[in-house]
Amino acid sequence: MKILVTGTSGQLARSLAERAEGRADIVLVGRPDFDLENPATFAPVLRSVAPDMVINAAAHTGVDLQEDEPERAFRINAEAPAELARLTRLAGIPIVQVSTDYVFDGRVAQPYIETDVPNPQTVYGCSKLAGEEAVRAGNPDHLVVRTAWVVSRHGRNFVKTMLSLAATRDRLQVVEDQFGNPTEAHDLADGLLAAAASWRKQGGFPQGLYHLAGQGRASWYELAAHVFAVSASLGGPSALVEPVGSEHWPAKAARPANSQLSSDAFARDFTYRAGEWRGRVAALVAELVGSTNS
Ligand SMILES: NC(=O)c1ccc[n+]([C@@H]2O[C@H](COP(=O)([O-])OP(=O)(O)OC[C@H]3O[C@@H](n4cnc5c(N)ncnc54)[C@H](OP(=O)(O)O)[C@@H]3O)[C@@H](O)[C@H]2O)c1
Repeated sequence: MKILVTGTSGQLARSLAERAEGRADIVLVGRPDFDLENPATFAPVLRSVAPDMVINAAAHTGVDLQEDEPERAFRINAEAPAELARLTRLAGIPIVQVSTDYVFDGRVAQPYIETDVPNPQTVYGCSKLAGEEAVRAGNPDHLVVRTAWVVSRHGRNFVKTMLSLAATRDRLQVVEDQFGNPTEAHDLADGLLAAAASWRKQGGFPQGLYHLAGQGRASWYELAAHVFAVSASLGGPSALVEPVGSEHWPAKAARPANSQLSSDAFARDFTYRAGEWRGRVAALVAELVGSTNS
């Protein structure tokens, strides 16, 4: 099965390319040939690749930046998926849209399930929710997968930021009152490939919306502390982490206090669960520290 994946350097796109070997033929497309801000670039690329499925893994992921550029956020995260949905429907192929835990306002204590009502509080969350709705409306053969707190050796993410800050600082303040599910991008990739294989076998997806995130709950503080504990044990960079409340960490976009996702429906329908966050983050830190030390 040939899958066109948007985003050449993104965490998920690169992880999909790495994990697909023997399971699918992945074609990564990105700027300038395929630019989510320029829908005229979509059809020629789709025609020349002729995929069996499209996974839209690319997005404007700068959560704070988007508060200052909402039009651009909506162009990339909502209008582009709408056009991709239209083109994939015309081509008679399915589209998988990757979305976010930040569609929720975070005002409940338990993990969110697919039937919970979104209420995004940021431009990013609003634009991604609009993208979900556009894909749902534009192509009946669709899958929307919400994920959370993605980390990997690729691109930019919290784990890599912590390790690089520790190279120059002894002490860091990290927010202790926002909770979510750290997710290794390769686990997300494995899940999407399992869903793609199921689509091929069954000729469709059991339902249109799923959550897929790492197992276990973490705060940003717990995640940072774990990164440094593992890194220190391996002789890598480490810093003292001081837990602080969100009010001490002014950010343009207000993150949800709880954006945990329940991945039970995904596990039920695709027989796949992402790994438990502590083990997956430990393996990632070992990989990152090892590559720095060698
Ligand atoms: N990262 C997270 O913590 C997180 C959490 C929840 C949900 N998600 C969702 O998961 C998906 C994958 O995230 P990720 O972490 O892999 O993202 P990422 O590492 O930030 O990569 C984003 C990708 O989007 C591409 N992109 C941005 N603007 C583009 C444009 N105008 N045209 C074409 N490509 C463009 C980037 O291309 P360049 O390489 O050219 O910059 C990059 O390859 C996204 O849908 C995201 O919203 C992510």
